[in-house]
Amino acid sequence: MDHFTYRGGRLHAEDVPLEEIARAVGTPAYVYSTATLERHYRVFAEALAGLPHLIAYALKANSNQAVIATLARLGAGADVVSGGELARALAAGVAPQKIVFSGVGKTAEEMRAGLAAGIRHFNVESVPELEALDGVAQAMGRVAKICFRVNPDVDAETHEKIATGKAETKFGVPIGDAPALYARAAAMAGVEPVGIDVHIGSQLTGLHPFESAFAKVAALTASLRAAGHAISRLDLGGGLGIPYRASNAAPPLPFDYGAVIRRTVGHLGCEIEIEPGRLIAGNAGVLLASVIYRKRGADRDFVILDAAMNDLVRPAMYDAWHEIVPLQEPAPGAAIAPADVVGPVCETGDIFAKARDLPPLGAGDRVAFRSAGAYGAVMASEYNSRPLVPEVMVSGGEFAVIRARPTLEEMIGRDTLPPWIEPARA
Ligand code: LLP
Repeated sequence: MDHFTYRGGRLHAEDVPLEEIARAVGTPAYVYSTATLERHYRVFAEALAGLPHLIAYALKANSNQAVIATLARLGAGADVVSGGELARALAAGVAPQKIVFSGVGKTAEEMRAGLAAGIRHFNVESVPELEALDGVAQAMGRVAKICFRVNPDVDAETHEKIATGKAETKFGVPIGDAPALYARAAAMAGVEPVGIDVHIGSQLTGLHPFESAFAKVAALTASLRAAGHAISRLDLGGGLGIPYRASNAAPPLPFDYGAVIRRTVGHLGCEIEIEPGRLIAGNAGVLLASVIYRKRGADRDFVILDAAMNDLVRPAMYDAWHEIVPLQEPAPGAAIAPADVVGPVCETGDIFAKARDLPPLGAGDRVAFRSAGAYGAVMASEYNSRPLVPEVMVSGGEFAVIRARPTLEEMIGRDTLPPWIEPARA
């Protein structure tokens, strides 16, 4: 459930008409709903109620300070995958002891930053990383708490670009190698294994892959404990999918996901950590855009928007479907015709939707891309020198810009000329 609804024929974010935001900020622009973010955090908290747990919001989904701070105020931790995300989590007020550091390629500098901040644990994905972390921690006179991220060789049944749990992907250590790796880590002075981590992919629309992966983690917990390792934390990753397309079957609810967790690992007496990103932020955001032109094509019309693949890359990158809805509610029985919805970027792949059934949108009309709160703004670029898309947050009847659109001067001002080129004279 989200808080983007038509009221009096106008699409609102909570109590604010989106048209008002579009006029004030211009388009394209991302708009987030505080109430939806909070609701999504709470449904996870309720799903795990009674189990000792930490909801470590995966910052990669949306790392705007206002989004992180909104969740941190409710008690959320953070899953970070870079020094930049670590700094963002700390700046937004996430307690260091609630931050977990994931990722296959942590640098020594990032490890030092994590240790200096006193984060909760590192998820270690290889032997070279283990050795590096041991060295960095010893040099600092610290002991790094670690979980190995195990690769359970489970098919997440999602888009291949976001499936991470199969043996052939770059992620984690083979689950069969875990006993030897824990023994090795236990003998090191700079690291202390405290738990097990697993993350099998993103936008999962079935519970079955989670169940298989978590069952393997439960079995591994038992065998590691039998070998004398104190396993007290299980980080089960993120990945629960969201409904992008109204006509598709809805993915499982956090409550049912929580039931799988209880059933598979709930009896182990471990602290349960999860790293949801998309389910928290995805349906808490829309991307607003305006129609620049409607153009006749050979087969059907093109609706050319002022938003493009650089602002929301998911359709171009994963053939992802985002519902596109007009800010002005179409009259009942309004004509619907298929059109291709595209952006102005000079690439054939700059297309948001092919033959999408839409009301007859014309120049100046405004639309919202739904489910754009996760992996939207964070994946935006300035390709074609289109300034980074701004972000706005709504709470009740109020809205605030939480990242302004850079001016062209700011955008160009980030470049610097080498000393051998004379600056151009204005
Ligand atoms: N934990 C780890 C270690 C991850 O790699 C990810 C996502 C998450 C948690 C959060 O997963 P979520 O709950 O959001 O599914 N850009 C792609 C998604 C990439 C996901 C990468 N890892 C997209 O737009 O679909």
